[in-house]
Amino acid sequence: MSRVSAAFLFKLCLFATLVQGLQGDKRKPYIIYMGELPEAKTSVEDKHHSLLMAAIGDEEIARQAKIYSYGKSFNGFAARLLPHEVQKLSDEDAVVSVFANKKRKLHTTRSWDFLGMPGTSGSRNSKVESDIIIGILDTGIYVNAPSFGDKGFGPAPAKWKGKCVKGANFTGCNNKVIGAKYFNLENAATGSVTPADDDGHGTHTSSIAAGVAVKGASFYGIARGTARGGASSARIAMYKVCWENGCSDMDLLAGFDEAIADGVDLISVSIGGPSKDFFSDPMAIGSFHAMKRGILTSCSGGNDGPTEYTIENVAPWIMTVAASSIDRKFQTEFKLGNGASYDGLSINTFVPKKRMYPLISGTLAADTSHQSYLNASACEYGSLSQHKVKGRVVYCEGYFGQDDTIKQLGGVGLVASGDSLADVDVAFVMSMPGTTVSNKDGEKIDRYINSTKNPQAVISKTRTAKMNAPFIAAFSSRGPQLIALNILKPDLAAPGIDILAAYSKLPPVTEDPLDKRHATFNILSGTSMACPHTVAAAAYVKSFHPNWSPAAIKSALMTTAVPMKIKDEFAELSSGSGQINPVKAVHPGLVYDITMRSYISFLCKEGYNGTTIALLTGGQKKFNCSSFRPAHGTDGLNYPSMHLQLTDTNASISAVFYRTVTNVGSAKSLYKAKVTAPEGVSIQVVPDTLKFDKLHENRSFKVVVKGGRVKKGTRIMSGSLEWSDSRHRVKSPILIFTTDQPIMV
Ligand SMILES: *[C@@H]1O[C@H](CO)[C@@H](O)[C@H](O)[C@H]1NC(C)=O
Ligand SMILES: *[C@@H]1O[C@H](CO)[C@@H](O)[C@H](O)[C@H]1NC(C)=O
Ligand SMILES: *[C@@H]1O[C@H](CO)[C@@H](O)[C@H](O)[C@H]1NC(C)=O
Ligand SMILES: *[C@@H]1O[C@H](CO)[C@@H](O)[C@H](O)[C@H]1NC(C)=O
Ligand SMILES: *[C@@H]1O[C@H](CO)[C@@H](O)[C@H](O)[C@H]1NC(C)=O
Ligand SMILES: *[C@@H]1O[C@H](CO)[C@@H](O)[C@H](O)[C@H]1NC(C)=O
Ligand SMILES: *[C@@H]1O[C@H](CO)[C@@H](O)[C@H](O)[C@H]1NC(C)=O
Repeated sequence: MSRVSAAFLFKLCLFATLVQGLQGDKRKPYIIYMGELPEAKTSVEDKHHSLLMAAIGDEEIARQAKIYSYGKSFNGFAARLLPHEVQKLSDEDAVVSVFANKKRKLHTTRSWDFLGMPGTSGSRNSKVESDIIIGILDTGIYVNAPSFGDKGFGPAPAKWKGKCVKGANFTGCNNKVIGAKYFNLENAATGSVTPADDDGHGTHTSSIAAGVAVKGASFYGIARGTARGGASSARIAMYKVCWENGCSDMDLLAGFDEAIADGVDLISVSIGGPSKDFFSDPMAIGSFHAMKRGILTSCSGGNDGPTEYTIENVAPWIMTVAASSIDRKFQTEFKLGNGASYDGLSINTFVPKKRMYPLISGTLAADTSHQSYLNASACEYGSLSQHKVKGRVVYCEGYFGQDDTIKQLGGVGLVASGDSLADVDVAFVMSMPGTTVSNKDGEKIDRYINSTKNPQAVISKTRTAKMNAPFIAAFSSRGPQLIALNILKPDLAAPGIDILAAYSKLPPVTEDPLDKRHATFNILSGTSMACPHTVAAAAYVKSFHPNWSPAAIKSALMTTAVPMKIKDEFAELSSGSGQINPVKAVHPGLVYDITMRSYISFLCKEGYNGTTIALLTGGQKKFNCSSFRPAHGTDGLNYPSMHLQLTDTNASISAVFYRTVTNVGSAKSLYKAKVTAPEGVSIQVVPDTLKFDKLHENRSFKVVVKGGRVKKGTRIMSGSLEWSDSRHRVKSPILIFTTDQPIMV
């Protein structure tokens, strides 16, 4: 899950231990991916079984070993295998790849106003929009949240082939949430089976994408306003693929297989894991087959920033989304007995009952009754003495979710210092009165505690405050990517910090199981929250241009995006083309379209061989890359951004990007190129004017980038290309990245 939370990290560790303990059987689950469906209407299941039989040799074991047969939207299966069986299956002609099943992680109201997106009264194509179905692969959905009310919605669009599966704590679907299914063969024996959302994440992402407007929404009075999804007239179909112990590749692929076949128009997946070769990566595989059927997939880019090379879900047919800030933050005042007060960052719903409470630091509250290696200053679990904590507010160094610990010991508040999380940008929902403060303020608080006989403090309920925006969240994963080196990722940014949206009443509002609060709204952060913003923006564009290809919709969103106002040292490696601007994206002027043929020539250029490509496209026995129009230029793809990664520090800068734009603006128009080039680099556009006589006409051009050896110490160089007639500005970032050390792929 791409939701950020300190406590979540601990949960993960716990689960890892549990899972290890259960691995008795030597057979491990693998995914056997076989590309496109066969043209002949043969039973794929029979084929899967005969392949398994050939590899395993025993009918009964082969039958038991199979977990899934995929065959609605692409070909493949999942099975428990021994190493030599993996080898045998890998050698089969009909098999593209065999890879181990891994676990992946899960990675609004104000935000849509901030983006200038019209509400229901504004310029919207609500009638067409209500025929758009957004498929969401996530933790399930809480249909009873007010954001999923179906007042005014007619029955599901005629094209809809999905269904609503019943289960525990799940009363069924309605005309807003028209489908819900779950996929849990990974944990078939243990997991409870239901599309109900016992986590909250799936409910949150679904409502960001397509929740209806709910007036007076707030989180215990905080962030009050009208909560609404971006495509509030669109329908939602939930595919529950994530469970308490994560989201497994094979369940995820089953979700894609069914969503595509059910007739969704767009897919949103706020889930991630390490990027792999495209056809050993379930996200790339699922979204590839979605793209072939005209469905754009939007994915979160991950929460492992601000380190470079952390971006996930990087296939060029995916819309990869970074998390940006909106102009609001959550401030929690922390006041000391001496009158000093500090602006903390947190989401604290608790109103203090007393004017002041006794205060102590973790250091002074240490349990000294026995020798311990635990860090009491940081208030590590087990390091503190209960009688020193009881009834007190506790100051801890560093924040990693100590609220649960302090609460358990009878403490009445937490103030945690830390520049990594606190000072940067995210406010976490606290399970008890609490806030984070900067390290500098933390030190002052500690000094006050040390120098005062009866130190006291009080933590106020959180208020919202304005802030300068947008910038990219520190946690948002950064490029460059290591799979297709010259495709810039992330593509785009959308709000992902402190987003108020619908929540499930099944879990408590924090990850503390003792937290008694259950609510239908909650405030979460993560690229998980950014991803459904862009899928909604894509739905909005699609409601005006129902026939546009996935690449055209993505291009419209990218070329009209707003570059970050507040840049960080990673420039476009943080934000791609910038923050989405849905209203502008409806009229992009020009689009960079990508056909299936050009994806194939790109894959040839990336080194995929004819056997693999024939399986991906279906039909042909063998595919000859050299007889096919070879992809040319630095990236080999008609991408809306341009990126050169130099993997050799001594290389000089040299790149050529071949591009074709399609006129979707005014029939007769003349576009002129405007270039900004980094110092010491020349960027030439040939030709530098494009004349169109008709709509849907194509014009090609090339962008030649040249420069000497990159100066030592310079690693990131940003330039840009902008095509403009009098009415449209079609922007592409041009980013040069030089590694300072050899890359190991
Ligand atoms: C305890 O944790 C804090 C915060 O993470 C850290 O700054 C400090 O160095 C740690 N102390 C010890 C003794 O490890
Ligand atoms: C407060 O006292 C503790 C324990 O003596 C010490 O470790 C800490 O550094 C002191 N804090 C400050 C800011 O002086
Ligand atoms: C969910 O359903 C299970 C089984 O029916 C039940 O035991 C549990 O209490 C339910 N949980 C909630 C929060 O309603
Ligand atoms: C194509 O690639 C696959 C996977 O890397 C490999 O197994 C196969 O032998 C290759 N085929 C040819 C004709 O090179
Ligand atoms: C592939 O096509 C090229 C160019 O048309 C041709 O020269 C070559 O022989 C073909 N290779 C195969 C294996 O068919
Ligand atoms: C780059 O050039 C420097 C100086 O000419 C040389 O010392 C170094 O080995 C070269 N590095 C690589 C990776 O070729
Ligand atoms: C322009 O290119 C697109 C694909 O990139 C193609 O589908 C379309 O037919 C072309 N338009 C014309 C007028 O040739």
